[in-house]
Amino acid sequence: MKKRIFSGAQPTGELHIGNYLGALKNWVALQHDYESFFCIVNLHAVTLPQDPKVLKKKTLDLARIYLAAGIDPEVSTVFIQSDVSEHAELAWVLNCVSRMGELERMTQFKDKGRGNAERASVGLFTYPVLMASDILLYQTDLVPVGQDQKQHLELTRDLAERFNRDFGDTFRIPDPYIPPVGAAIMSLKEPDKKMSKSDENLNGSIFLLDDPDTVTRKIRKAVTDSGTEITFDESRPAITNLLTIYHLLTGKTADECESHFEGKGYGVFKSELAEVTVEYLRPFQQKVKEFEDGDLERILSGGAEKARSVASETLKSVYSRMGIR
Ligand code: TYM
Repeated sequence: MKKRIFSGAQPTGELHIGNYLGALKNWVALQHDYESFFCIVNLHAVTLPQDPKVLKKKTLDLARIYLAAGIDPEVSTVFIQSDVSEHAELAWVLNCVSRMGELERMTQFKDKGRGNAERASVGLFTYPVLMASDILLYQTDLVPVGQDQKQHLELTRDLAERFNRDFGDTFRIPDPYIPPVGAAIMSLKEPDKKMSKSDENLNGSIFLLDDPDTVTRKIRKAVTDSGTEITFDESRPAITNLLTIYHLLTGKTADECESHFEGKGYGVFKSELAEVTVEYLRPFQQKVKEFEDGDLERILSGGAEKARSVASETLKSVYSRMGIR
């Protein structure tokens, strides 16, 4: 039996190259070796205010993006979180297993709530519990995510272990898969901050659907470090970040990347990076446009059915162990 993968992304904002390199690209690569579930987590999206029409559209757009990036619906299960009600049901149960204290320690709540817990939604506070439910419902072995999700994965493991201890063995304990390179792609404008969908400065992110001129302009205007060398060097985060993007998009080794740019200036480097990025995104952007709505609906309803068949088994055993019905 193949081991299982579960991962997901929120249908908010525009997906950027950080989401792709930190997560999506690895989903595509791993899907053939694992039984894979890729979810569009629209229930997570409403932890912050959303325009209903926009959310609805973005949910389907994100499905198109998964498929265009190379998720094969014949191989992997692609579905929308709200189509499988077990996610919300298990989240309730796990809310009762989670401690206020451990959720208060989640750094993403502090960031997204902007330090104002009084005004943040309760949903934002228990966001990581819904994420744990997503993962645990599928008896997941591996969760491919970027660095920023590591703390949520630790909580997921803690909740699963606690439940298993208190009620008997129910959940598989999942491992995170955080790629050695690309797990934290940084903003092009502020290289000490991660590239983020919610960044107000749109020039900090390369969005997967940016047109060639926009990509080129953003890379040309990306901040650089003092000095002239184009090498991987932690003390020069801006160039290291750009070179990491080049490295992952070209598939060249780190050494090949460095020697390729030896003696060349930032100008040449940036034009080559822009060209590589534009060419990488071109076929992807073409594919995004190709999916017919009918095909998409068929894939998503088939995905939800498959997901439900697994999720309902887990929820049944959770309820029965807890004496709920
Ligand atoms: P989300 O939608 O913010 O991001 C989707 C994925 O992209 C990764 N990522 C990055 N990787 C590298 N560099 C960056 N700058 C960067 N920014 C984002 C994220 O780590 C993530 O893997 N909570 C999740 C969604 C979620 C989920 C789940 C994930 C809900 N349930 C269950 C895995 C399993 C989130 O908000 O991702």
